[in-house]
Amino acid sequence: MDPKKIIELVEAALAADYPRVRKAANAIARVMGDDGQEEGATALRSLLRKKGVPLRASGHMEQLPVDVKSRLPLVEEQEWPVTPIFINEPAHMAIADFVSDAQNLEEFSRNGIASRLAIMLSGPPGTGKSLLAGHIASQLNRPLYVVRLDSLISSLLGDTAKNVRAVFDFIPTKNAVLFLDEIDAVAKFRDDRQELGELKRVVNTVIQGLDSLDDSAVVVAATNHSQLLDPAIWRRFPYQLEIGLPNETVREALWNYFLFGDKDPEGVSKILAVISPNLTGADIERISLAARRRMLLNKNELHLGEVTTAIINARTSEGHTGERRRQGALDNKEMARHLQQHGLNAPQIAKLLGVSRQWSLRLLNEADNG
Ligand SMILES: Nc1ncnc2c1ncn2[C@@H]1O[C@H](COP(=O)(O)OP(=O)(O)OP(=O)(O)O)[C@@H](O)[C@H]1O
Ligand SMILES: [Mg+2]
Repeated sequence: MDPKKIIELVEAALAADYPRVRKAANAIARVMGDDGQEEGATALRSLLRKKGVPLRASGHMEQLPVDVKSRLPLVEEQEWPVTPIFINEPAHMAIADFVSDAQNLEEFSRNGIASRLAIMLSGPPGTGKSLLAGHIASQLNRPLYVVRLDSLISSLLGDTAKNVRAVFDFIPTKNAVLFLDEIDAVAKFRDDRQELGELKRVVNTVIQGLDSLDDSAVVVAATNHSQLLDPAIWRRFPYQLEIGLPNETVREALWNYFLFGDKDPEGVSKILAVISPNLTGADIERISLAARRRMLLNKNELHLGEVTTAIINARTSEGHTGERRRQGALDNKEMARHLQQHGLNAPQIAKLLGVSRQWSLRLLNEADNG
């Protein structure tokens, strides 16, 4: 190992320059990997993924911009996520393009074809937008600074503009990914009737802030009210990605990961994916973890019937299937009918409900006859 690498690491650490610490440590991990010290390299990398929030603990609070009145930080450095992201293939490709464009920025600049590195993620709640922002930061090997714009609109709108400015003054020195979560909170239509003048000032401050960043700044924004966003804000985001509900393939991966810890032995995830078309990643995570908690208390038996009920209830409670909201447990006959509507056959239904094939055929017959 080149001693210069260790010296660089120690220097960066003593200067509390975390992006530099990460860079130096990653360089060391790479050398370790090349030298066949895979275990050490992996341990170092996972350490780098975990420890993203030491700023406050290290007493470097004064570095973070704070709210004019409350003195609370306006920006938070967040850890890189541990949960993998599962998204539809086109979204996956769009993110890969964005990351690759960011990595090749210098070359693009030399040729005069660089673009502003700002991506807008839109889509329903719980589809993984915030998670994705973390993955973009980790792929770019940059710290993730999160600004929750709704918390930044604090007391007086006049102070809000000051807060927005403080955030954009802070970011350029950080070689970071700036994540503007819930950007619609300030970026609502400028002709919103209430508080018209003030709000307009805030939106303009955000726009000025975005324009003030240099080319190498990476900005990710997220919204689940894309229609509320001012067109002038949209224009600042050359990369735009709509994260829709997960498709069947992605749902299968989500079930497999959250319910079976990636170890679904029997293709149950595939069947669950078929019957959960309107669920988000967050829904699938919630139902899976609830089932696993119960499983731990129930002698390790997973009740797929309960999972199925939870799926059907989640869907009906949102009115997707046009039925009245129901919370109680469904009986097997009702479930069999639901599952049949999704095109499942008797053996698949038997697997989900934990009954024999004969039983499931009988359930279907009974369901058919009312
Ligand atoms: N596509 C996904 N892949 C993996 N996990 C997901 C996905 N979508 C949601 N999750 C799980 O649900 C959690 C919540 O998702 P997340 O906060 O990223 O959604 P969001 O789109 O930002 O929602 P909101 O609009 O409410 O902020 C994630 O931390 C993750 O555990
Ligand atoms: Mg979010």
